[in-house]
This record gives sequence, structure tokens and C-alpha cells, in this order.
Amino acid sequence: MTTKLSMNAAEIQAWLVSNLAEVLHIQAEEIDVTQPLDSYGLDSTQAMVIVTKAQKMLGFELSPMLLWHYPTIEALSGRLAEEAQESQQETKSLVDTNSTPNLAAEAVLDETIRPLSTSFKFNPNPQNLFLTGGTGFLGAFLIHELLQQTDADIYCLVRATDTTSGKEKLKKNLEAYAIWDEQFSPRIIPIIGDLSQPQLGISTEGFEMLATNIDAIYHSAAMLNYVFPYSALKAANVLGTQEILRLACQIKVKPLHYVSSVAVFESPYYAGKLVKEDDSFDRWEGIFLGYSQTKWVAEKLVKIASQRGLPTTIYRPPLISGHSLTGVGNTDDFVNLMTKGCLQMGCFPEVDYMLDVSPVDYVSKAIAYLSRQEESLGNAFHLQHPEPAPLSTLVDWLSSFGFPIKIIPYEAWQDKLVNDVTSEENPLYTLRPFLLERWSEKQLTIPDLYLKSNRPIISCDATLNALAGSGISCHPIDGDLFTTYASYLIQSGFLNLESVINN
Ligand SMILES: NC(=O)c1ccc[n+]([C@@H]2O[C@H](COP(=O)([O-])OP(=O)(O)OC[C@H]3O[C@@H](n4cnc5c(N)ncnc54)[C@H](OP(=O)(O)O)[C@@H]3O)[C@@H](O)[C@H]2O)c1
Repeated sequence: MTTKLSMNAAEIQAWLVSNLAEVLHIQAEEIDVTQPLDSYGLDSTQAMVIVTKAQKMLGFELSPMLLWHYPTIEALSGRLAEEAQESQQETKSLVDTNSTPNLAAEAVLDETIRPLSTSFKFNPNPQNLFLTGGTGFLGAFLIHELLQQTDADIYCLVRATDTTSGKEKLKKNLEAYAIWDEQFSPRIIPIIGDLSQPQLGISTEGFEMLATNIDAIYHSAAMLNYVFPYSALKAANVLGTQEILRLACQIKVKPLHYVSSVAVFESPYYAGKLVKEDDSFDRWEGIFLGYSQTKWVAEKLVKIASQRGLPTTIYRPPLISGHSLTGVGNTDDFVNLMTKGCLQMGCFPEVDYMLDVSPVDYVSKAIAYLSRQEESLGNAFHLQHPEPAPLSTLVDWLSSFGFPIKIIPYEAWQDKLVNDVTSEENPLYTLRPFLLERWSEKQLTIPDLYLKSNRPIISCDATLNALAGSGISCHPIDGDLFTTYASYLIQSGFLNLESVINN
């Protein structure tokens, strides 16, 4: 990074507007420089594209967090112009990525949210379910499973302008995952709203109607963004969960099935420790990603509601991979992007990583089944793969299939990432700032933080016991599974064998 341009705020602003318009595929005129950047729905990858390009243009290092510390283009341009002047000699990061909010102080549940009655009768045949996240990955498969495993109608919270477009959004999402079945269509009912708004953005009348009529809630929605800080995700992930708890407690007591994450054990305190389903997750210090911080606080809110008498069940998945039989999944998830990027580089880093992934069919089937067992209430479940495999299994499999791939020392891989990955043709190019940023007191990079020695050992014994006899099992991480995934990734155009082999 050698070129250092001295640009003024107006020039930087014009540059940002045109580049934001480009990544969002909209006209520059549609961008209002005084509007918060997150109102444009910028995702992690798009944010990385902007940061990487800005870094190249200005000639100094930028933290990906910058976009959210200076949340409008106007504010960001001003700050970058100041920094461009100051940093003529020096290269430094512009934000302190080590600051963690006091998560324990954030975990305060509105006092008015408590079940009106402590008497609750479990209903094994619910008629009306409320589900969030139905336009997302796991949510789509949860809808699919709940349609199969119950007779209930499913009321789905959707961000859309009206019920017609809301229904269309749900349908398109299930179609994209090859699980849309027209005969079930009447049982999928959109409820227009937004997690980040009071009462989920639903009118008081509508909220009360739902509170009276629904029998159980499945809360799967969240903003999954590994770049945004806690403050940018709090409204949807933390306050949204609070509104879900309000709905669960209001008028009639409804059990809440909350999709959390193994990320609640991301504090370095748990590194190398065995954590079981019913272990406390009180330690939050050092959780570095804003997303994980919100999942910790949100699960604490659910815990508080449970202590106030609300029946709740917690499901903690690891990374969720594609369907084990069809391979259909999220192509732009971290594992897929890393695999594609490393294939293009011709090498994987030599790191002691475990493939902590569970196929989406296992996760969704297990949640739908466990949620219908009365004894699940009050418990947490770990949907961890029972036999996780080391990353080297994936590399061995890729090699045995003729992919030209080597394992090289981690430092050499990082150097290659900096020096050889120089265009957006490699998906790791836009992830470079994220992968190379130093986080936490120990100044570790994201890949360092995922080393086996820095991770907890997640036990899933109690979950497997609870699933015993259900016929639900997790597909082994083996050649069959990799073949299924690779076929889908090639067929969908995400992986191009020729370009990998000729690289
Ligand atoms: N995927 C994983 O590997 C993984 C691992 C562990 C835990 N989890 C947890 O599993 C759950 C589902 O994850 P996923 O992979 O299915 O995520 P996803 O594909 O990104 O879907 C997120 C869903 O949340 C909805 N959402 C986000 N903000 C919202 C808001 N303000 N109002 C209403 N809905 C909103 C999205 O709606 P739009 O379509 O409108 O954006 C979408 O339906 C999350 O709670 C996540 O934390 C996921």
C-alpha cells in the first residue's frame, strides 16, 4: 500500500457515493449522504468491497468497522479527509477494535415483560405458530419442517411493504432452497413487521391479536453480519428479541423457541473448556464480534424471561452448512468463501481448525422435533456436529478429487493473501481487511481466533439423548457430504472447476 492521496472531504464524498452506488447496483442520485449507511442494507461483503477500494485509493489502512463508527457518508468523508492529511507519513487503523461494550450491563429485560400467569399447559398440537426469519436460510428450513411435523398455520414476520410482497418474498426464499410446496402455501401467512421496531413494527391491535391467538413462537431472525459493531446490530438482535419476549408474555403464555448460537461461549474464558448444554454462559469479556455480542445479550434476555416464568427452549447451532442430501445452502457463507478463495490461491493455511458445521436439515429437523417435546422446555440444546472433522479432512478430499491444493504454513498463507490476492475475482480479496484485522487484547486475527486452541469444546451429549429414538441424525462429515456440496456449488455456478484448475 504505497500511494497516499491527499483528497479533500468533498472529493472523498463523491468517490464514496459513486462506489456505494456501484456495489448496491443503484444510481448515485439515490444516495443521500446524510442517511445512515445501514439504511442501504449494505452487507458484510459489500462493506468489505468499499473498505478495500477506499484503502487502495487513499493508501492507508482502514478498519472495516469504520463504516459504522462514522455512519453517514458525510461523516465518514470528513473523517477520512482529516486522516488522509494526518497519515501522510504514518499507516494506522482509524478505530479501536478492542472496545467491547459491557454486555452484562446490556442484558436488562424490560420489567413489564413477565408472564401474566405461571400456569401453562403444554400443547403438543399447536394450531398457530409465529416464526421470525422465514426469509432467511435456517428459517426457510424451519418453515418446511414445521409444515411437515405439525398441522399448524405459520405466521411469519416479514420485512415487506404489504402482505402480497411479503408472501412472495417467503415463497421465493423457499423456492431458492428447493423446498417450496404449493399445497402448503395457505398455511404460510405473512405478518408485515420489523424486529428492530417497538412491538415488531406491528399495530397494537395486530400485536394483541397475535398475542391472543398464537400457541408458540420460533425466533430465528437476526442480522448476521460479522463486520457491524454491537451498536449497529443491537436494535434487531437484542431489542428485537425483547419484543419477541413481550409477545410471548402478553395476554397468553406462549413457549418461545429461540435460535441462539454457540457464539455465546466465544469469551476466551471458555477456550479449551468443555461446555455442556446446561452450563452457564455468564462470561462475556473478550467476545470480539459485534454479532456474537448481540447473541450473548439476547440469550441472556431469554434466560431472564425464563426465570420470570416464561417457558423457553434455546437452540445453539454451530455454522450451518447446506442440506446433506441436496447440497442446497448459502453460497456466500464464510466456509464456502474461504474454500473458493483458497482453491483459487492453490493453498490452505496449515491451521488446527475443526469444521464446526452442521447441515441445515439436521438443525431444522432437530429444532422442530425438540420443540414439540414438553421435556425440552427450560433446556438448551447444542446442534453441534457430534463428530466434527478437522479442516485437513476437507483439504484431503479436495486433493483426492484432483484439485491442485497444498497446505502451507499459516504465515506464508497470510503473506500470499496480502501479495497475491489482488483482485475481486478471489472472494477473499474483499475479506482481506476482515481476515487481517487484529482484534482483542491479544491482537489476534480472525483466523487466529478460530484455532482449535482458542475455541470451547461444545458437548452435544444431552441433545443426542433428547433426539434418541426420533430418527434424526447428523450426516457424517465425509466424502459423500463433500461430493454433495461440491456438486451443488459447481451446478449453481459458485465454483468453476476450470478456473480453479487453470489458476
Ligand atoms: N447461519 C449460521 O451458520 C448460524 C449459526 C449459528 C446461529 N445462527 C442463528 O440462526 C438464525 C438464522 O440464521 P440464518 O443463517 O437463517 O440467517 P439469514 O439467512 O441471514 O436470515 C436472517 C433472517 O432474519 C431476518 N431479519 C433480519 N433483520 C430483521 C429485522 N429487522 N426484522 C425482521 N426480520 C429480520 C431476515 O429477513 P430479511 O430477509 O428481511 O433480511 C432473514 O429472514 C439466526 O438467529 C442466527 O443468529 C445461524
